[in-house]
Amino acid sequence: MKKIYFLLFSLIIVSCENILKKNKDMSLVHIEKKAFGKTKEGINVDQYILKNRNGMEISTINYGGIITSWKTKDRDGNYKDIVLGFNNLSEYESESPYFGAIIGRYGNRIAKGKFSLNGEEYTLAVNNGENHLHGGLKGFDKVVWDTKEVVDDSTASLVLSYLSDDMEEGYPGNLEVQVIYTLNNNDELSVKYEAVTDKKTIINLTQHTYFNLSADFNKNILDHDILINADSFLPVDSTLIPTGEIRNVGDTPFDFRRTKNIRKEINNSNKQLMIGNGYDHCWVLNNQDQGLRFVASAYDSGSGRLLEVFSDQPGIQFYSGNFLDGSLKSKTGGTYDFRSGFCLETQHYPNSPNAKSFPSVTLSPGEKYMTETIFKFSSK
Ligand code: GLA
Repeated sequence: MKKIYFLLFSLIIVSCENILKKNKDMSLVHIEKKAFGKTKEGINVDQYILKNRNGMEISTINYGGIITSWKTKDRDGNYKDIVLGFNNLSEYESESPYFGAIIGRYGNRIAKGKFSLNGEEYTLAVNNGENHLHGGLKGFDKVVWDTKEVVDDSTASLVLSYLSDDMEEGYPGNLEVQVIYTLNNNDELSVKYEAVTDKKTIINLTQHTYFNLSADFNKNILDHDILINADSFLPVDSTLIPTGEIRNVGDTPFDFRRTKNIRKEINNSNKQLMIGNGYDHCWVLNNQDQGLRFVASAYDSGSGRLLEVFSDQPGIQFYSGNFLDGSLKSKTGGTYDFRSGFCLETQHYPNSPNAKSFPSVTLSPGEKYMTETIFKFSSK
């Protein structure tokens, strides 16, 4: 009889331990992996869900390094998805306006798709009016990346690697690129970009997530309050190429040095706003010598969600979703209408290869391209 009691007691202890262990594991930061589909060429694509102990969940796929969903909490503690995207890979392949993707080799525009290096002229695809945009016809947003998961006690990282061949999309040099997404328990996602080349080339990587902090994709983003730590911005010509002027934001709708509602001045009669059909400009960020520093924030007073952006980059493209026109179906059954998402793309200035006065975007053999941007969420 004693033996039976002992056996029963041991069994209970063991199963309790297992339950505790399981709960403990699930409460730690971790990654879950599942199949997401096959590309048109038949390549398997996986989804990696980075979860932290607070409940934040970031889903990303190795096609384009796309962040497909990002669950963050509102002021009442409800976690909801706050990024635009699709439910299926085929929609990302066929019609995505760069939702959630890694952009390269050159984020933003290069005038007429031409630039010179060492006296040699290079020609890139012209895929945006008369200009080159976001790396060309098959940029880094449309390739399948290799992956590695790295998890420790307090962080979960997905390391994405890609080798872009010499002259791929017209860019010189074999470029080895790594983008590392790291989620921690402070509700921060760090995006680290690294690259090396074997021939002089140009590079400007960014992340193209469209946020709508209300988590209601049927709502536009005009009620968000934006702050951009920049005293000046880059006016553009009618094709959205910077004119070369660095203009002070003072007394213009481009002054976001104090938190301002997007709605407040977006419809002002202002030539730059008319060209962009809203905000679609690069701001010249302050404190460029300080490395990683606070650069911008977005707040949705309805839900209480606050996004803060930190970066070591010189510029940020604030794009108010002006090309969204209701033709794309949303994840939740509606449509992505005009200005239903906004992007805060940390980067070098557009068309830098052709603008002598802008900071350099060249990368030479022996150098390492390294940059970091952090997206931090909280609620209030
Ligand atoms: C960037 C550009 C915009 C637009 C979007 C994608 O933000 O600046 O003009 O091309 O990407 O639609």
